[in-house]
Amino acid sequence: MKRLAIVLALVVPMLMSTVPAMAAQQLTAAEKQKLFLKGAKLWPIYCNHCHNARNPAEFAPYQWDAIMMHMRTQANLPPEDAEAVLQFLKTAR
Ligand code: HEC
Repeated sequence: MKRLAIVLALVVPMLMSTVPAMAAQQLTAAEKQKLFLKGAKLWPIYCNHCHNARNPAEFAPYQWDAIMMHMRTQANLPPEDAEAVLQFLKTAR
């Protein structure tokens, strides 16, 4: 039981820090704006590589969450870049 508590205490924060969507919710408006602009620059670079970069308006924000989980591994994105592209895709209309 004690060992389980120790494992959970170590693993849970590690999992939390790998979920960019959760981190984005704690950002200020200015930080979100910065992330958006970074994402807007990275999106045509990363997402045009294998297919045409898809229009942000094509999918709802919850759909981009799911799509990015798949495409961030396809594009091999570093977490900070994936977070920026996701912020752009979810809020650009
Ligand atoms: C390494 C190649 C590769 C890169 C880079 C890539 N994709 Fe894809 N993408 C694919 C492939 C292959 C498919 C279709 C098959 C699949 O879903 O795996 C696809 C499908 C999609 C779809 C279609 C989903 C649907 O239901 O119609 C969307 C949207 C998408 N990608 C968005 C993105 C975004 C956003 C990025 C940039 C972060 C990106 N892709 C980067 C290979 C890539």
